[in-house]
Amino acid sequence: MGLLDKHGVIERNATLLLALSLVVVSIGGIVEIAPLFYFQNTIEKVDGMRPYTPLELAGRNIYVREGCYVCHSQMIRPFRDETERYGHYSLAAESMYDHPFQWGSKRTGPDLARVGARYSDAWHVEHLSNPQSVVPESIMPKYGFLAQTELDTTLIAADLKANAMVGVPYTEDAITNAKADLMAQATPDADTSGLMGRYPKTVARDFDGNPGTVTEMDALVAYLQMLGTLVDFSTYDAKANYR
Ligand code: HEC
Repeated sequence: MGLLDKHGVIERNATLLLALSLVVVSIGGIVEIAPLFYFQNTIEKVDGMRPYTPLELAGRNIYVREGCYVCHSQMIRPFRDETERYGHYSLAAESMYDHPFQWGSKRTGPDLARVGARYSDAWHVEHLSNPQSVVPESIMPKYGFLAQTELDTTLIAADLKANAMVGVPYTEDAITNAKADLMAQATPDADTSGLMGRYPKTVARDFDGNPGTVTEMDALVAYLQMLGTLVDFSTYDAKANYR
């Protein structure tokens, strides 16, 4: 019996064909996926990465709730046209505390992975409230209501706890102080020593131009302003991570 005849047997038996197809596809899958668990550059720890502060996490929740990811990616690919426009390509480690990740799948608007510290808070508030007022041709919807909506903080400690359950290193201390840390980050002249100790490189200030109330706008702008700012790329050595 020739090789083709043997293959004919497989082709005439649907169950056998299905079973063998699964074996072949699994081998292909294992070859592609398994090495990712061992390569340094996909499991690297990078200096500067820390979990989100409670205020940033609340802002991230609003980002997800409003579907910003439908129009914006947070994933700079290692191509010249992208890195020249957006900055250093995204590292796997930069989304290690994201549950779920916000890489997105479509860019109707620009990538936001490194939008942090690129514009002033006032620009963001103006742009989110009325995008066409700063970018006349913009098709981004208006989110002015965020500045009128007080931030709901009742579930923030539970949110940190849920993230801790899936591996984000929030300590008991961080969970207990979640609400206090959230308020401290958005309130001018608050005591931020606890917050800074738990979350290095945190920017604490009134973000929405309304110091009296912590609004959803405060949270969203705090989140946008930290995106891509934690890793210091002037000292980051990409080669050290390819071992
Ligand atoms: C319908 C698609 C759409 C949605 C939804 C959307 N955006 Fe945009 N966004 C755009 C477009 C288009 C631009 C580019 C024009 C402009 O700057 O307004 C943009 C620009 C931006 C910029 C400026 C980026 C830069 O580098 O200049 C930020 C920040 C931003 N969006 C944040 C958000 C946030 C936060 C949300 C969710 C609350 C959101 N966008 C929802 C389409 C969208």
